Parts: sequence; C-alpha cells; structure tokens
Amino acid sequence: MSDMMPRNARHNDINAEASAYHTSAATHATLSIIKGDILHTPTPDDFEVFENGYIIVADGTVQRITSDLPNEYANLPVTDYSGSFIIPGFNDLHIHAPQYPMAGLGFDYKLLPWLERYTFPAEENFADPAIAQRWYKRFLNKLWSVGTLRFSAFATLHAQSTLQLMRLSQQSGLRAFIGKVNMDRNAPESLIEGTDDSLATTQKLIEKSRKLTPDIGFIVTPRFVPSTTPELMQGLGELVERYDLPVQSHLDENLGEIDWVRDLHPDIPSYAEVYEHYGLMPEGRTIMAHCVHTSERERALLKARRVYLAHCAQSNMNLTSGIMPVRRDLNYGLSVTIASDVGAGHVPDINRHIVQSIEASKMLSMLPGHQGEHPLRLPEAFYMATKAGGAFFGQVGSFEPGSDFDALVIREGDNPLGLSPQERLERFIYAGDDRSITHRFVAGREIPLPFPEA
Ligand code: GUN
Ligand code: FE
Repeated sequence: MSDMMPRNARHNDINAEASAYHTSAATHATLSIIKGDILHTPTPDDFEVFENGYIIVADGTVQRITSDLPNEYANLPVTDYSGSFIIPGFNDLHIHAPQYPMAGLGFDYKLLPWLERYTFPAEENFADPAIAQRWYKRFLNKLWSVGTLRFSAFATLHAQSTLQLMRLSQQSGLRAFIGKVNMDRNAPESLIEGTDDSLATTQKLIEKSRKLTPDIGFIVTPRFVPSTTPELMQGLGELVERYDLPVQSHLDENLGEIDWVRDLHPDIPSYAEVYEHYGLMPEGRTIMAHCVHTSERERALLKARRVYLAHCAQSNMNLTSGIMPVRRDLNYGLSVTIASDVGAGHVPDINRHIVQSIEASKMLSMLPGHQGEHPLRLPEAFYMATKAGGAFFGQVGSFEPGSDFDALVIREGDNPLGLSPQERLERFIYAGDDRSITHRFVAGREIPLPFPEA
C-alpha cells in the first residue's frame, strides 16, 4: 500500500479511509467503496448506468461495479455520494499549455496568420521562468477545475519552462504527457532553435524528466512539418526509437498548411507520410491533432499505425479550418478522441467540446457529400472524451474492472423534474460547468485544487 499513499499530505486517498480493513484474500488489497449514480461508456454504443450503484476500488483500480453491495463488503465503509453522479474523468489528448493565457484571441484569422500574430508572440513569453511558473499553475488549476484529469500537452521550445510544466504537473496529481516543442524553421528568430541544439536539449529533458517526474511522460513534439527541417525530424525519430517514446503533432488542419507541406516535401506523397518517413509515427503511441483534410492513403496509414486522432471541433470552427469527417473516420476504424486544442479552442472544458463535436457532425451531415451520414450521438462523443483517449494512458476512461479509478463526482441542485441519471448527465454536458464538479479522483486518489495560491 505504501506506493499508493499520497506523496503530498494534502492529498486525500479514498483508500486511506479503509486502510484498517483488508480483505481476507491473499492479495490484501486496500479496498474502498464509492456509492452514487454511476455512468460510463464501455463501448460507444450507449451509457451503462448504475443508479445508486457501487464501485469497488482496490489499490486505485476498479475491481467491480455493481447495483447492490455484495455481502462480503458489508462491513467496509462506503463513501456515499448518493444524489450525485459519478463519471470517468475527461482525457484531453491535444492542448497547448502556453496558449491558455491567449485562448480566445485572433479568430478572425485562419491558422497560419493566427500563428504568426497571436500564438508565436504568446509563446515567446515562456522564455521567462517566472511567467511559466505563474501561468502553468493557473493552467493546471483550470484543467483540474473542469475535470480534465489526464492530458497530452505541447509546452514551448524552452527547455526550462517545459521542465517546470512537467514538475508542476507531477505535483498537481493529474497525469500527463508533455513535450518540449521542436521548431528550427519558419518561425520568428526568437522561436527558432539550431537543429543540433534542439535535439541535444530534447535528449537532456527526456533524461531529466525520467528521474524527476515519474507520473508525467515525455512526448516527442515536432510542432508540425513546416516548423521542422528534415534533419530535425530525422534526429527526433532516432530519439523516439532510442527512448521508446510517444509522439504528438498536427496533421491536415488547414488547406494552406497542406499546400505548404507539399511544397516543402515534394518527394513524399502525403503530409502524414512525412512523419512516417522520419520515424515519427510509432504504432499505437502517436497523437495527430485535427486530421480535417486527410486523404485516403493517409487514412490507411493512420489506421495501420493505430494513431490517436484528436478531433478539435471548436478550434476548427474558430480558425475556419474545416469540419473533420468523424463519422467516415469511425466507420473506417480510426480511433478518434475529443480534444480542446486550447488556445485555438477558447476553453478547455471537455463537456463543451463534446457538444461542439456533435454540433459539427450534425452540420456536416446536412452538407452535400455527407447527407445520410448519422451525426455523432452523445454516448459516442462521451466515449471519445473518456475511454478513447484514456487508452493512451493505459486502461483508463471507464469503470470496467481493471481500469484506473479516475472519476468526477458531479452534484447539481435538486431534481424537481425527476430526471433520470442519464438525463442529468446529458444536461450537465450541454449546459453545466465546473461549478457542479465536487470531487476528482485520479487512480483512486482524491486530488485537491493543485495550486490554491496561483
Ligand atoms: N499548427 C502548428 N502549430 C499550431 C498551434 O499552435 N495550434 C494549432 N491549432 N495548429 C498548429
Ligand atoms: Fe494544436
């Protein structure tokens, strides 16, 4: 049990409440029992609902989920959230931590001028460790607040502030992959690194973070093809192989960007194949954000490499990038997750991104070429925001036995209409916000607001 105990005494462990009670089984697992209206999506087809149900958690992992408390557990204390509903935590596979302070700005522009006018100047500020410290704490507080318990984030190219973000994330109790952004071409002078320098700094950071941040993984993060020379991509591919690392980047977000990639790499048949060519598409460990304008051969590659597609509907609308054909991609067998892409997405709240993904899908289904396509349904979108992205972290994102117990407890006011648990969840997703989230658990541990002073 000692390795499950909080490192930080402020952190409250639901396991601790039951620490005096051990099972008679040989495992001596520390058990805790949580009661409430439980909802999750083991499959995209539908919600599974346990009204007044119980989740039995052993050492941070879901052991079982039941409607009635089995006799063998009758003497154990129950953490009772009756009247609240309990759902898996949200997982955001694409977010830019340094863009949080400028989220919502510049949306009269499309991607490339937006990057130049708003994003790059914002990211330059993170050369200053004091700014990084202040804003990364606020960023983590915000993710905690809205129920994003795991995420994969871009930092900036600055090594020191990237390590700060990793250490603060470790302290927060949330789980994450974080990458130092690599960029050695096509950016302002202050945001361009020498190729060798970029690789050496990245390697140092990989090694340092392995020692310092056991719960926060390093993810190799070429910004996108136009920002990285072939030499840099080649070197990053070697780091991926050598350290067995995951990769995140952007793909097929905007038509101008795609033309630019074609000009830069005329000998490679498609944008996705540039990443593949340089060893930047490790199987089952790659996140590609956007994928709005993929070609058929790209989809075949994304499927073969089991890439996680991060659908950023709000961002794609803000920057007039397009509408990702999610139904087509799902039918084809691609893994699609829902992500915020803050700051091209203006808020990190995943419940709002669920809604916007559904809206985008409905809009697309009314347009020529897509008529007859079934728009995304709520349980599908909820699955994409929980279990589909959770898989990037292991068995995460539902309450099926064996899953990490990552959960949000949500309490709304009284229920005069007598809504069912599922209806209350639907209402929360569409019209609710962080004010209703009363408790957050990551791998069985309750996580308090990470940085109250920020
Ligand atoms: N492509 C390259 N960089 C970025 C970024 O910061 N945001 C988005 N949305 N797309 C990008
Ligand atoms: Fe992005």
